[in-house]
This record gives sequence, C-alpha cells and structure tokens, in this order.
Amino acid sequence: MMSFVKYEPKGNIAYLIIDREKALNALNSQVLADLDAALDAVDLSEIRCLIVRGAGEKSFVAGADIAQMKELSKEEAEAFGKQGNDVMRKLEAFPIPTIAAVGGYALGGELAMSCDFRICSDTAVFGQPETGLGITPGFGGTQRLARLVGPGMAKQMIYTARNIKADEAYRIGLVNAVYPLSDLYAAAEKLAGQIAGNAPIAVRASKQAINDGLQVDIDRAVVIEEKAFGSCFQSADQQEGMGAFLEKRKHEPFINK
Ligand code: CAA
Repeated sequence: MMSFVKYEPKGNIAYLIIDREKALNALNSQVLADLDAALDAVDLSEIRCLIVRGAGEKSFVAGADIAQMKELSKEEAEAFGKQGNDVMRKLEAFPIPTIAAVGGYALGGELAMSCDFRICSDTAVFGQPETGLGITPGFGGTQRLARLVGPGMAKQMIYTARNIKADEAYRIGLVNAVYPLSDLYAAAEKLAGQIAGNAPIAVRASKQAINDGLQVDIDRAVVIEEKAFGSCFQSADQQEGMGAFLEKRKHEPFINK
C-alpha cells in the first residue's frame, strides 16, 4: 500500500521521510497514521539513530493540512489534535535518538520539535502560522516551542505568526547548526553516525533520563539519572568501553549488549 512516510535504513541509521511533496509534506490524518506505522516498523535491534526529513528540496513539513482542517467541527478538531499529539509524543519518546534535518519550510514545526534536536539548511524557514489561520498551534506546538526557546520567544512567534529564517532559528537555539542545503543530509548522516558509534544502551538511557528528568523537579530528576547511570553497568559495552580506555586501546565496535 502507498505510504506517505518512507523508511530507508542505511547501515545502522535510518531515514524517515515525509513524502507528500505535492502538498509540501503537510500532515493530514493519513500522513500521521503512516508516520505512526513507520515508527512501529523501525528495527530497534539494528537501527541506532533516526533522521527525519521531508521529501524534495523545498519543504520539511508545511504544517498540518489546511484543506483537511477547514471544515472540522470542534470535536473533530480535538480528535485530529490528539492524533497528532499521540504521534509526536511517540516520536519524542522514541527509544533511539532522532534528528530532524530541516531542508526548507518547517511551518508549524511540531514534527521537528518532537525530534531530539534539529539541524537545518540555509534555505530553512520556521514559523507558527496558526493564529493567522484562526487557530492555535496543535500537535504540541504551544508546548514544545516554549520549552525549546523559552516562553517569551515562543509567544512572540505564535502571536505574530511571523516566519523566521535559518540564522534566526540558530540564534534562538531552535536549531543546533545550519548547513548549505547540498550538505544538510550528509551532515545529518555524520551526526547520526557519531551517535550510532557510541554505546546504544548508554545513548538510549541518556535520552530517557534527559526526557523524563525534564518533567519533574531536580531532586526527583537526579534519582532518574542515578537509575539510568546504574542501568549501563555490567553491560558488555560498558566493560569494553572502560576496558579499552584503561588498556590504552581503541574500543571494539559496541554491540548493544
Ligand atoms: N496544508 C495543505 N496544503 C498545503 C499546505 C498545508 N499546510 N502547505 C502547502 N500546501 C499545498 C498548497 O495548497 C499547494 O497546493 P496546490 O499546488 O494544489 O495549490 C502546494 O502545497 C504548494 O504550496 P504553495 O503553492 O503555497 O507553495 P509556495 O511556495 O507558494 O508557498 C508555503 C509555500 C509558504 C509553505 C505555503 O504553502 C504555505 O504558507 N503553506 C501553509 C503553511 C501553514 O500555514 N502551515 C500551518 C498549518 S496549521 C497547523 O499546522 C496546525 C497544527 O499545528 C495542528
């Protein structure tokens, strides 16, 4: 069956590609369902980092599908918001790291914000156009943007609905780095490769500790970390990583055990 989300493994990293180019990869219910299914299909025994991107040269994702939303009732809209939220939350909590490689438009950048971090092309445009369409951001847009760039900047972006370019997205900390479009995906693969080269148990436990710790007060957060820290010990990769250091040699490739 035709899917709007392509899954392309490449060694121990993989791409998830939102592939609805004729609508600039806008998210309708079908794309969200396909994304949900694509996440379920990732082989977590092999894949150590996901790169999320849009198909084509022009857009990462142009937000939610306006044609689908136009005639929704309040109840249907709430359900659509929940469908988006459930998928974004699944992506955010995905066991392995996720990198959004934003080549072009990320309008209503909720998908990008649900990844662990974002890099973008110098052609990228970020913005929350929703109030100009008569609605609030959905799919976590009011929540994650404020957490990522602080409430003041998030409120400015959302109330004004003004787009920002790559350099400003970099300056406010929405993206970690900006590349020429022709270098973006190679840069993403390089980062993913560096991540994939580290001990998967440790990388996953780090992700979970950071995500879970951000939800609670610092006293509980450090306990979450203690558990994550302890969970790595007596793994083959911890033994090899520390053993190699002490023997002054390069560690063997980590085996995720
Ligand atoms: N929904 C549905 N269709 C969309 C779309 C969207 N979000 N974004 C683009 N498209 C469609 C256009 O309708 C057009 O289709 P046709 O060829 O059939 O006319 C096609 O994609 C190409 O788009 P444009 O002709 O508009 O391309 P452009 O280069 O002139 O402009 C753009 C590009 C600035 C990204 C412009 O398409 C645009 O502003 N898109 C809408 C962005 C937006 O407002 N997104 C937020 C949606 S609200 C939201 O996301 C709510 C939520 O959080 C849940």
